[in-house]
Amino acid sequence: MKTSARVIEMQESPLRKLIPLADEAKKKGIKVYHLNIGQPDIETPPNFLRAIKNFDEKVVGYSISNGCPNLRQAIVDYYKKQNINFAENEILITNGGSEALLFSLLATTEPGDEILVPEPFYTNYNTIAKIAGISIKPITTLPETGFKIPAKKEIEKLITPKTKAILFSNPGNPTGAVYSYEELKVLADLAKKHDLYLISDEVYREFVYDGFEFTSCENFAGISDRVIIIDSISKRYSACGARIGSIASKNKELMANILKLCQSRLCVPTLEQAGAVELYKTPHSYFEKVNAEYKKRRDIVFEKLAKIPGVQCQKPRGAFYIMAELPIENAEDFAKWMLTDFNLDGETVMFAPAEGFYATKGLGKNEIRIAYVLEEKKLSRAMDIFEAGLREYRKLTS
Ligand SMILES: Cc1ncc(COP(=O)(O)O)c(C=O)c1O
Repeated sequence: MKTSARVIEMQESPLRKLIPLADEAKKKGIKVYHLNIGQPDIETPPNFLRAIKNFDEKVVGYSISNGCPNLRQAIVDYYKKQNINFAENEILITNGGSEALLFSLLATTEPGDEILVPEPFYTNYNTIAKIAGISIKPITTLPETGFKIPAKKEIEKLITPKTKAILFSNPGNPTGAVYSYEELKVLADLAKKHDLYLISDEVYREFVYDGFEFTSCENFAGISDRVIIIDSISKRYSACGARIGSIASKNKELMANILKLCQSRLCVPTLEQAGAVELYKTPHSYFEKVNAEYKKRRDIVFEKLAKIPGVQCQKPRGAFYIMAELPIENAEDFAKWMLTDFNLDGETVMFAPAEGFYATKGLGKNEIRIAYVLEEKKLSRAMDIFEAGLREYRKLTS
């Protein structure tokens, strides 16, 4: 039997391909600290499970394809507090931010089209682009500038008649960059000038540190019909398994067409939507606590990395990731070796080699991404193990 070229050509998740090695290490009794994926250990606010326990319908029925009205209203109210203005009918509920991304690309591009994405970028954008039959043209951003958006004329060179959208995450996974108003204005101006959609993946919206201001793309005047906001409760409320995301746009025609895609999968789980309604009512003080926790973790990782000879990294302003350049040639080989050949008193660390976050061949080979999703003590220990492993690996490979 044949398998389609569509799936054969799809890239295996560069983050998940090391999992069998971690499983093998665990079978040998080695404890693995997971700094490889954005799965926070922060407790999901209890109002989520309470709402599910209190669900009092006799039948768990389908909900409507665009999502429960009370969830859409809860998101409208949440957005209002963030100075983002959408009406209930400008929001569609999706199975996580992932489906929101997929539906947005399916609705804004034709097979063969191109989208611009600042690289390094969230690797799943590759898979989603493949499903939509489109290609990603990377806007290369550099660690030494804090992964800032380059000048307008640099980006403009990448635009062709096939370019239909600019997609980016802000705050950024894997970079931790938070775009300033001026950087976003560059993208907004280009979108207007070249008739492009601006797909703004804001799933890390609250995770911004050091008093830096987050700017949503919704705030740009005169382009509201081009802006699509991608959202999710996965990171915001540490509810990755609930699979609740959303698409927000003021473009009525676009939204009516995305609704057809929503109808193809009938609905998003009814119970999780009930839980998400309560999550979106979580008071703002929750984010203050969670942010303080992530900031502490970021500082631990950054300070430990900065002390390791030969390691280059910048302090990220947002999300919960940090990129680092290592004094080795092949970060993937090092990441594998940490799982297969190294342990410090029976413990090792898993992190993400960064090559898979780049579309430009050859970039990111000696870079990694660390997700600071473990509590202070574990994170500190994991970073000590990382440092010991890097020292040992360098001795073996130099
Ligand atoms: C930038 C970004 N966008 C979207 C997602 C998708 O998240 P989910 O489908 O869990 O909402 C992720 C998950 O890691 C992400 O990092």
